[in-house]
Amino acid sequence: MSSEQPICLITGASAGIGAALAREFARHGHALVLTARREAELDALADEIAAGGQARPHVFAADLATRDGVERLAEGLRERGLEPVYVVNNAGFGLLGAAARLKRDNQLAMIDLNMRALTDLTLRWLPSIRHHRGGILNVASVAGFLPAPGMAVYHATKAYVVSLSEALHAELKADGVHVCALCPGPVPTGFNARAGIPAGYFPGLLGGTAERVAREGYAGFMRGRRLVVPGAPNRALTLLPRLVPRPLVLAYMSWRWDRARRRG
Ligand SMILES: NC(=O)c1ccc[n+]([C@@H]2O[C@H](COP(=O)([O-])OP(=O)(O)OC[C@H]3O[C@@H](n4cnc5c(N)ncnc54)[C@H](OP(=O)(O)O)[C@@H]3O)[C@@H](O)[C@H]2O)c1
Repeated sequence: MSSEQPICLITGASAGIGAALAREFARHGHALVLTARREAELDALADEIAAGGQARPHVFAADLATRDGVERLAEGLRERGLEPVYVVNNAGFGLLGAAARLKRDNQLAMIDLNMRALTDLTLRWLPSIRHHRGGILNVASVAGFLPAPGMAVYHATKAYVVSLSEALHAELKADGVHVCALCPGPVPTGFNARAGIPAGYFPGLLGGTAERVAREGYAGFMRGRRLVVPGAPNRALTLLPRLVPRPLVLAYMSWRWDRARRRG
């Protein structure tokens, strides 16, 4: 029998949706490991959770856009005898701008974080996740359902996350492992500032809070859902690309991007 402590690993827990997910998992009694680059923010959240009467989460600062960062995180868990049985892959960022104009390195870093690190952390602990009949919650986005001129690489990374999660959901279901893609619409977090997205860029109708996303995400994940899309307008948005011909979807998304550029 393993002597490792089973824990839930949450990436990108220093802010936004990841911090809300950490509070939600803690509220349901999970022992947590929180990771992101900003250690002070992670420590403050760990203190807050402990002050609420839950076990204080372990904190590991790591840059997950680097291979070294992922390796050091895994090594840190191993040294402390911590074994992920739930992995919440939430860390991610987007960039607004024409792909030809945005810095190539920044777009590749987005792929490293949103796709490579997520895949690594999804696959790395599958034996212990399977053993404990745990699961993997991958934070994708409604962006994963439609191509978007102006955020081409970001939307493509999220399409990857949706596709990977749905396939693994089917592959691992028989082993009692839950894999779920959580697909929020626009949420007011630090995301927009980092992406360079101006206020009012997304239709207000689609907006939600990080707390709601975390609450619905946790509940759907634990019920074994394949996809969780918080909010009826967002659910409708994810259906549209499946009903409307692709060229029309692309024409609409191009029109939105052109309009945003004209407005500066
Ligand atoms: N907000 C939205 O509108 C929205 C909508 C749909 C999906 N999402 C997705 O939700 C997830 C969380 O985003 P958010 O809205 O909560 O944005 P956020 O407030 O900017 O939080 C992003 C989190 O990712 C972490 N992170 C960023 N780069 C990292 C790196 N190189 N290594 C490790 N951690 C890193 C950040 O921590 P540090 O800066 O401390 O590293 C932070 O904790 C992302 O995957 C995003 O794509 C967001």
